Amino acid sequence: MNNKKFSEFFESIKDKLGIRKTSFTKIFQYLDNIKGPINIVETGCLRIKDNFEGDGQSTLLFDKYTQFREEKSKVYTVDINPRATKVCGSVVSDNVEIHTGDSVKYLNELLPKLKKENQKISLFYLDSFDVDWQSSDRSAAHHLKEITAIINYISEETLIVIDDAPILAPMKIEDEKMSLITEHPAPKPFVGGKGYLVNEFAYANNATLYFSNYQTAWFNFKKKL
Ligand SMILES: C[S@@+](CC[C@H](N)C(=O)[O-])C[C@H]1O[C@@H](n2cnc3c(N)ncnc32)[C@H](O)[C@@H]1O
Repeated sequence: MNNKKFSEFFESIKDKLGIRKTSFTKIFQYLDNIKGPINIVETGCLRIKDNFEGDGQSTLLFDKYTQFREEKSKVYTVDINPRATKVCGSVVSDNVEIHTGDSVKYLNELLPKLKKENQKISLFYLDSFDVDWQSSDRSAAHHLKEITAIINYISEETLIVIDDAPILAPMKIEDEKMSLITEHPAPKPFVGGKGYLVNEFAYANNATLYFSNYQTAWFNFKKKL
């Protein structure tokens, strides 16, 4: 693995990542601790070139990372919009397998195939929906559906990340100062956006929260039978 080369690339672009800078740094730190070739499965691919601040350019970042990892490291990505998969295909290398279609259907087809080949997934990066911050239910439900598709393919090393899933909290503005409402019956801060149902499921599965920033990540997310 050529860690130095990836670090050089990441250092050159990381400030463009804005609110995702710290969490992407933590994602790559996590992957650095996994030995051997790695597989990354992503839902929702890069759809606009150079849009680091808006979307994150996740597919490009993962592509670069696998190029500096062991041979046979790969990225699998899916997007329902053919315009997105076309743009993505023009930006990334052959390390990325790109599929056009619904993410849940794709995961249901891809994962049994990879399991048969004894491939483990190091990272699931779930980003296949544009969140509506006024009403995040549909996007949160879509990611819960993705979790049901991947749950049997999670190993002890797998990291799961959902984009647009920050911690949200009830706030008040008093005397022109904003602060957290802590008094009962205000709800406690919670993971919101696209990740709020997955976070509830993760909690029920005793998963470990790795970070929650603008993105949220968990590991030890293995289904308890
Ligand atoms: C936020 S963008 C992905 C951004 C990308 N991860 C990046 O960092 O640049 C969300 C994408 O999800 C796609 N999408 C929406 N519904 C989907 C579905 N059911 N299956 C797969 N992709 C879907 C949209 O077409 C859109 O391109």
